[in-house]
Amino acid sequence: MDNKERFLSLCGTIDRDGIDKLLGWLETSDFFTCPASTKYHGAYRGGLLEHSLNVYDELQRLLAAYPEIEAKEESVTVVSLFHDLCKVNFYGVEKRNRKNEEGVWESYDSYVVREKFPFGGHGSKSVFLIQQFMTLTPEEAVAINCHMGPWDKGDPDVGRSYEQFPLAWLLHVADESATYIKEKKK
Ligand SMILES: [Fe+2]
Ligand SMILES: [Fe+2]
Repeated sequence: MDNKERFLSLCGTIDRDGIDKLLGWLETSDFFTCPASTKYHGAYRGGLLEHSLNVYDELQRLLAAYPEIEAKEESVTVVSLFHDLCKVNFYGVEKRNRKNEEGVWESYDSYVVREKFPFGGHGSKSVFLIQQFMTLTPEEAVAINCHMGPWDKGDPDVGRSYEQFPLAWLLHVADESATYIKEKKK
């Protein structure tokens, strides 16, 4: 099963109005081919799709380690697979030049940010985009909105969100674990 098949089969477990419309939009977008970043983690074709699945796997691993945190399976799937939809239609490719090992200049493709919908937030943009198609529960919306934790300059007191919604803290940790451990550049 490739990453797209796995993603779609996990989405098949989401029983909620609008999921078909959300998936229809993703098919028309670059979600299945775009990178997860320009040069950090997942900076390759399909990087965002792979990152989303990695966050799902890390979140499941963390939930097994924290049995006292209760979370609905559907919410776990929704928050992990869709937390970074803000990066859909967000990147472009530019030609750059570099010297190869023989010292000869060569042209290569480099990812750049080419934001087409400058919403003004990261997690908040994902929440907005998802809710164009499908309603989130308050817990899911907080988890996605606060998944950057203290890295998100827009939220000075994310700890209060994590206190009230432990799944939100777990998603934040799963996102970091996927980024810094699983997708660490060799
Ligand atoms: Fe993110
Ligand atoms: Fe992420």
